[in-house]
Amino acid sequence: MGKEHKGTNITWHASRVSVTTREQLLGQQGYVVWLTGFSGSGKSTIACLLEERLIREGHPAYVLDGDNVRHGLNRDLGFSAQDRDENIRRVGEVAAMFSKAGVVAIAAFISPYAKGRQEAREAAGDDAFVEIFLDTPIAECEQRDPKGLYKKARAGQISDFTGIDGPYERPPNADITLHTERFTPPECIEQILQFLGSRHLLAARHTH
Ligand SMILES: Nc1ncnc2c1ncn2[C@@H]1O[C@H](COP(=O)(O)OP(=O)(O)OP(=O)(O)O)[C@@H](O)[C@H]1O
Ligand SMILES: [Mg+2]
Repeated sequence: MGKEHKGTNITWHASRVSVTTREQLLGQQGYVVWLTGFSGSGKSTIACLLEERLIREGHPAYVLDGDNVRHGLNRDLGFSAQDRDENIRRVGEVAAMFSKAGVVAIAAFISPYAKGRQEAREAAGDDAFVEIFLDTPIAECEQRDPKGLYKKARAGQISDFTGIDGPYERPPNADITLHTERFTPPECIEQILQFLGSRHLLAARHTH
């Protein structure tokens, strides 16, 4: 399947291995779990707990985390609107690759713009993308301030900080909305697993 590209001498070379064959090898369907929300809303915390739980139950899973990808893949990017878009575009593509390889890609990114999240959904395909909105009030996130970033943003040391002086477009149709100020991390994980189960995303796929 060809994709939009800038070069004129680029041709899509199809794989000899089908998605189904890969899924049978790994015993599951690959998909993307996309976590969006303010800094401090709990994305990394939930992503890592979910990854641990899925792997413990035999599901290959891998976390793509905002801070971590900025150490490598996206270390050339900053926090301007343009760089944030590019950050999410690349990660959306990488998450889709993991998913097509049969792995559960758990992406933890503030991802403040609806357009970027929609593009990530399109890269993976609608039935292989689960959007989770961590609807944690900004006051709660600021009070948690696990990395001291809100303090710096308030002191004017960081600009365009999401929720303080940077925009966040709330997802109107998230698959799951987590209220982390009311539920503990393990309770949030149960809510996610319940949803994944209802979408048949926790069912084992075996070769017959
Ligand atoms: N239900 C919950 N789910 C997730 N985190 C919670 C919950 N309740 C309290 N917390 C706490 O909130 C903090 C969330 O921090 P975390 O680093 O996961 O946020 P983040 O969304 O990844 O932020 P950033 O965008 O800056 O990376 C942690 O200290 C965590 O212990
Ligand atoms: Mg994080």
